[in-house]
Amino acid sequence: MSDDALLDIRDLRVTYWGKSLLGFRGKAFDAVKGANLSIRPGQTLGLVGESGSGKSSIANAVLGLVPANGGTIRFGDVDLAAMKTRYPPDVRGQIQAVFQDPYSSLNPSMTVEDIVTEPLRVHTTMSRAERRTRAVELLGLVSLSEEHLERHPHQFSGGQRQRIAIASALALAPKLIVLDEPVSALDVSTQNQIINLLYERRDELGIAYLLIAHDLALVHHISDRIAVMYLGHIVEEGPSDRVYRAPAHPYTRALLDAVPVLDPDAQRRRRASRKAAPARETPRLAAQGCPYRNRCPFAMPRCEAQLPPDYPVDGGGTAACFLFEAPAGQGSARLRLVQA
Ligand SMILES: Nc1ncnc2c1ncn2[C@@H]1O[C@H](COP(=O)(O)OP(=O)(O)O)[C@@H](O)[C@H]1O
Ligand SMILES: [Mg+2]
Repeated sequence: MSDDALLDIRDLRVTYWGKSLLGFRGKAFDAVKGANLSIRPGQTLGLVGESGSGKSSIANAVLGLVPANGGTIRFGDVDLAAMKTRYPPDVRGQIQAVFQDPYSSLNPSMTVEDIVTEPLRVHTTMSRAERRTRAVELLGLVSLSEEHLERHPHQFSGGQRQRIAIASALALAPKLIVLDEPVSALDVSTQNQIINLLYERRDELGIAYLLIAHDLALVHHISDRIAVMYLGHIVEEGPSDRVYRAPAHPYTRALLDAVPVLDPDAQRRRRASRKAAPARETPRLAAQGCPYRNRCPFAMPRCEAQLPPDYPVDGGGTAACFLFEAPAGQGSARLRLVQA
C-alpha cells in the first residue's frame, strides 16, 4: 500500500495442514485468509481480535516461525514471505519479539545478564565488559537495575520477567518488535505499567511495534492504527482513535461491547442497543461470504454469498462490510439508521 512503510503485508495466507495416515499432508486450514497490514517506521499497529482469529499466525509469519502460504511480507527492501530458511543475521537483528508468557519464554537456567545480552553475543562483536555495560543500560530502560543482573527468572514477578524480555528485545535497537499478547498473562495494574513502558521506549528509540492483544481498550492509547481480525480476516483497519470511538464493522462494535463498563445500567443499555447474535455454526465451517455473518445483527442475504471487500470509512481506514458500500458518509449514516 504505502511505499514508506517499514512492514507491508499483502494478501498474506497462513495455512496449517493436519496429519493423515502415513504422514501425508491432511486437510488444509487457512488461519490467515489474505491479510493486508502496514506499519510505518516508529509507529504502532494494534492487532486485536478474539482467541483463534489468526493474530499469532500473522506474528509468527512475520518472525519466520511459520511459513507464508501466499502473499508478501515486505520489510524494508526484502520479502520475508519469500525466505524459506532462517532470516539472514542483519534482518534477524532488526526484528525482535516478545511473547505472552514471561514464565516460559525465559530460560530458567540463565541469569538476567545472559538473557539480556544474548542478542549482543549472537549479533555483535562486543566484549564481555561492553556487553555488561550495555546490559545495565538496557535494564535501566525497563526500570530494573544492575543488582538484578546475577539473578534468575524465577526470582522475579511476571511483570518483571516481561521487563527482562523487553530489555532483551531492545538490545540490538531493532526497527520492529513483534509483541504477541505481551501483557495478557499479567494483572491489570501491571498490564498498564508494561504498556506505558513500551510507549515511552518506543518514542525514545523510534521502534515500530506490531502489538497483539485481545483487548482493544488496552492498546488503543499506544496504537497509531488498529486492525481487527475475525476468523482469519482483517475486518476493519484504521486510525486508532477512530476505530475506538467510532467502530465501523459490526464485529468491532461487539468487541468493544465486551469491555466491561462500571455502571451496570449503562452496560445493559449498551448491550441491548447492539446485541450481537451468538454463533450459529462452528467458525471453521464458514467457507464463503462474510466470516461474521452468522453472528451479525445486520446480516443480509449477500453476506452469505460474497466476501465483503474493504470499503473506506469516515474518519479513516476501512471496514470489510457491505454496510459501508455507499460512498463514505452515506454508508455510516445508513448503519446508524439500521441500528436506531
Ligand atoms: N500449529 C498449528 N497447527 C494447526 N492449527 C493451528 C496451529 N496454530 C494455530 N492454529 C489454528 O489457527 C487458528 C488461528 O490461531 P492463532 O493464530 O494462534 O490465533 P490467535 O493468536 O488470534 O489466538 C486457530 O483456529 C488455531 O487453532
Ligand atoms: Mg495468539
